[in-house]
Amino acid sequence: MRSKFLVFGAPKIEESEINAVIKVLRSGWLGTGPKVLQFEKQFAKYKDCSAAAAVHSCTAALHLSLLVAGIKPGDEVITSALTFCATVNAIIHAGGTPVLADVDPVTMNIDPKEVERKITAKTKAILPVHFAGRPCAMDTLQKIAKKYKLKIIEDCAHAIEAEYKGKKIGTFGDFGCFSFYVTKNVVTGEGGMIIAKKAADLARIKILALHGMSKDAWKRFGHEGYKHYQVVECGYKYNMMDLQAAIGIHQLLRVHKNWKRREVIWNLYNQSFLNLPIAIPAPLEANIRHAYHLYTILIDKIKMGITRDQFLSKMVANGIGVGVHYQSIPEHPYYQKIFGWRSKDYPNAKKLGEQTVSLPLSPKLTNLEVQRIINCISSICP
Ligand SMILES: Cc1ncc(COP(=O)(O)O)c(C=O)c1O
Repeated sequence: MRSKFLVFGAPKIEESEINAVIKVLRSGWLGTGPKVLQFEKQFAKYKDCSAAAAVHSCTAALHLSLLVAGIKPGDEVITSALTFCATVNAIIHAGGTPVLADVDPVTMNIDPKEVERKITAKTKAILPVHFAGRPCAMDTLQKIAKKYKLKIIEDCAHAIEAEYKGKKIGTFGDFGCFSFYVTKNVVTGEGGMIIAKKAADLARIKILALHGMSKDAWKRFGHEGYKHYQVVECGYKYNMMDLQAAIGIHQLLRVHKNWKRREVIWNLYNQSFLNLPIAIPAPLEANIRHAYHLYTILIDKIKMGITRDQFLSKMVANGIGVGVHYQSIPEHPYYQKIFGWRSKDYPNAKKLGEQTVSLPLSPKLTNLEVQRIINCISSICP
């Protein structure tokens, strides 16, 4: 009998989420409401913050943070050459000009030396991405930001649980942006969250996330009676729904349990691949907590006898879903056309993008399934 296909990034959904969604469906209130409020409070507490703003994606979170950071046409924002396109697109949507910095080949995170090299009179912000869940070198980036008076917007899409020197990721910058997309460590289907250093910035984000309507506009249909609202800015339709928050509330309650399970899988992979001709993630620095979002291996054609893409095909043929995070940003034709970027100018991101493969790391995986993945990789290796 053919083994079941292991879907890459399949979320672990339990009965509590299913029941919570049913309850919201039956409540008659599906949109932004009390569940979103509860999820925001719960998330803020988890992050040791006073408040958080829920939105419908991390892309929306990044866009609003950049706007509230004051990014305007002509302003440059430095980000990683190895990230998801949403990071770069958010800068463009905010009216800014993205400037790429190459990554460190070991940590795969933005290299602070490259960031400093890319600073010009137009630079207004740094947008570090905590790649795969490994925190960026935040103390060095903070020093650079202070020296050049730059804002920091952290892309924490992979890094909900991550900490750097005992401090939670997302609390270093002026803004921290999180994703609850289906493959992420906490899932709401689509969803995002923003935390901000300044309460006034977060208040403005909340208004911009719902058409620019005055605070608590969602209350207008509640039992307290109709409330008039005023449009105070030209905002966006970026609000999270109670339907999504109902899932997130239960997911967040299990964030540590799921993290522990991924840590077990991570360590099993590490031990099993030690003697294989593939590169595994760099050892963890002593002062960090990795969020274990992506377990990435590198496929070197010379050592493996096959290309990365041939490896991907073999995994899929064996019923194992895999991912590529990511082809380097300068490889995409749109950015080449608009910004003239060439991948050879970002050699570390280019090489990683050509060799990287993300293995399944969902807490949903059973021990037998993890063993199946390990056996499959061992059988592909020469
Ligand atoms: C690094 C990074 N940034 C931003 C995003 C965008 O997140 P969302 O899908 O919630 O908009 C993603 C999503 O995969 C991501 O991986």
